[in-house]
Amino acid sequence: MTDQTSPTTVLVLVGSLRVDSSNRRLAEAAIAQLPPGIDAHVSVLPALLPHYDQDLDGEDLPEAVTTFRTEVAAADALLVVTPEFNGSLPGVLKNAIDWASRPRGEAALEGMPVAVLGAAASPRAAQWAREDAVRVLTIAGARPLETTVGLGSSLAAFDGADLTDREVAEAVAATMRRLVSEPLAA
Ligand SMILES: Cc1cc2nc3c(=O)[nH]c(=O)nc-3n(C[C@H](O)[C@H](O)[C@H](O)COP(=O)(O)O)c2cc1C
Repeated sequence: MTDQTSPTTVLVLVGSLRVDSSNRRLAEAAIAQLPPGIDAHVSVLPALLPHYDQDLDGEDLPEAVTTFRTEVAAADALLVVTPEFNGSLPGVLKNAIDWASRPRGEAALEGMPVAVLGAAASPRAAQWAREDAVRVLTIAGARPLETTVGLGSSLAAFDGADLTDREVAEAVAATMRRLVSEPLAA
């Protein structure tokens, strides 16, 4: 029996794998805005998952898939941080969402609140990737927040760990507050 009504555990999925990723930095800046008592960590598993294959999605699941689904199931909310690759979200993120979306109807992702952020080098601030991420997550059964936050010209958007654009920083903080106030999945 628990009286928990809103998320206390946030799993973070970052769509860029490169070491100096601006999306990874945006994810860390967002995590820093979470209130005390919220446990958040960036998953390393999206990079280790095989390509989604329905033939693999049976009794004898690849270990990375089992571990990833367990990790998603242990979270109350997701934070998805996406770059824009050729006008959409990158394959590594889409693949992770595809694995987390099954078994259909009883997937760990079902009903889970999700915040979507996106950083891109162009001033369009990953708008298409964010829109696509929201659509994909909704179809996958999750519950994305109505608004997303974009960071444009992202390679010059940080002073150390801090976002230089105050408006973006405030929007990220507000989104994090909203995420952890959402009702839990039923
Ligand atoms: C394959 C590829 C496709 C890209 N396509 C886009 C794009 O459609 N729109 C955009 O704004 N930036 C695009 N970019 C540039 C990314 O926004 C930029 O590399 C960004 O820094 C990636 O995020 P990261 O810093 O987290 O790795 C693309 C980069 C790559 C490698």
